[in-house]
Amino acid sequence: MSTPLQNDRLLRALKRQPVDRTPVWLMRQAGRYLPEYRATRAAAGSFLGMAKNPEVACEITLQPLRRFDLDAAILFSDILTVPDAMGLGLYFVDGEGPKFERTVRSAADAEKLAVPDMETELRYVMDAIRLIRSELDGKVPLIGFSGSPWTLACYMVEGGGSKDYARIKAMALNDPATLHKLLSVNTDAVIAYLSAQRAAGAQALQVFDTWGGVLSPAMYREFSLPYLTRIARELERGDGDDRTPLILFGKGNAAHLEALAGSGAEGVGVDWLVELSEARRRTGGKVALQGNLDPAVLYGSPEAIRNQVRLTLDSYAEGAGGSRDGHVFNLGHGMSPDMNPDHVAVLVDAVHEFSAR
Ligand code: CP3
Repeated sequence: MSTPLQNDRLLRALKRQPVDRTPVWLMRQAGRYLPEYRATRAAAGSFLGMAKNPEVACEITLQPLRRFDLDAAILFSDILTVPDAMGLGLYFVDGEGPKFERTVRSAADAEKLAVPDMETELRYVMDAIRLIRSELDGKVPLIGFSGSPWTLACYMVEGGGSKDYARIKAMALNDPATLHKLLSVNTDAVIAYLSAQRAAGAQALQVFDTWGGVLSPAMYREFSLPYLTRIARELERGDGDDRTPLILFGKGNAAHLEALAGSGAEGVGVDWLVELSEARRRTGGKVALQGNLDPAVLYGSPEAIRNQVRLTLDSYAEGAGGSRDGHVFNLGHGMSPDMNPDHVAVLVDAVHEFSAR
């Protein structure tokens, strides 16, 4: 556990300290676009079976690191493990994504929810983290993660993915007290989950507010932002150089960058609908920024990918008065199953090449 970290670029960049080159990792860097993932999945049977088996979760976490010169590993798991541990019954239907057997639609449903016990109901996650740390042996840091209270609530109320978020938006309008009750228990659960992941060995933490961007600005300020801010303020994560950095990623969060920069988080993840130069100027160097290449760039040619990587790096530097410090390179959202692994290698190598100090 205490092997010294050989590559601390990610942690240094999140603290806005100088690095020799910009660190890079990719959301969903482990997954179906890798033939070795598909082979492991075929042998294991199901996604949830893999996520709940620490040895398999560890193997899948390490797969992309064997191919690409990435600066971080991210735990292979899912954001929906938390509502599953709250008793909602997570399952996956091929081609339809995640579903819950039970939903949260009334005050009585919300009353029944409690923060799950991390070392029993979510022990498989903590065991996976301990195993990955030991297998990584200090090569790169391990990122732990959770869904945001709002994004988890979307799945818990809708019962699965949604196109229009009709049920949860109706709840926000007609029964806001119940939604706040649900968001509040989710926030307590996220704080407990991230702090257990940190105790198990996660060296950086990311909250995925994937569906924050479906809210109007006023609704975001009522139903997502205050809970993200509470996590950033209340999550115990050490001090000074030993502080475990927290990244708040949000799709469609461009309207709220100033507020997110003032939340107390160390990093903010942004999507590709905002210029990184603008995001950097508006956040003023108060936080590190992570992002923000359009994932679809991976469908381009190697030459096009290299060009887009350079534009992204330079956009950040332009907003930061010429400095590349405080930037973590990433996509603006996760990878897709039909992406070409060779293109990922081009991207990762281009980040390092063009950002060398
Ligand atoms: O980044 C990583 O490599 C870590 C692994 C990771 C997964 N899910 C693996 C996964 C992470 C960080 C997540 C988070 C997650 N899960 C989010 C937020 C991040 C984001 O992308 O916005 C959300 C919204 C979910 C819910 C979820 N789980 C969805 C929508 C799906 C896809 C369902 C489908 O059939 O396409 C999953 C399943 C899932 N989670 C897969 C993986 C690799 C695919 C499972 C498979 O079929 O093999």
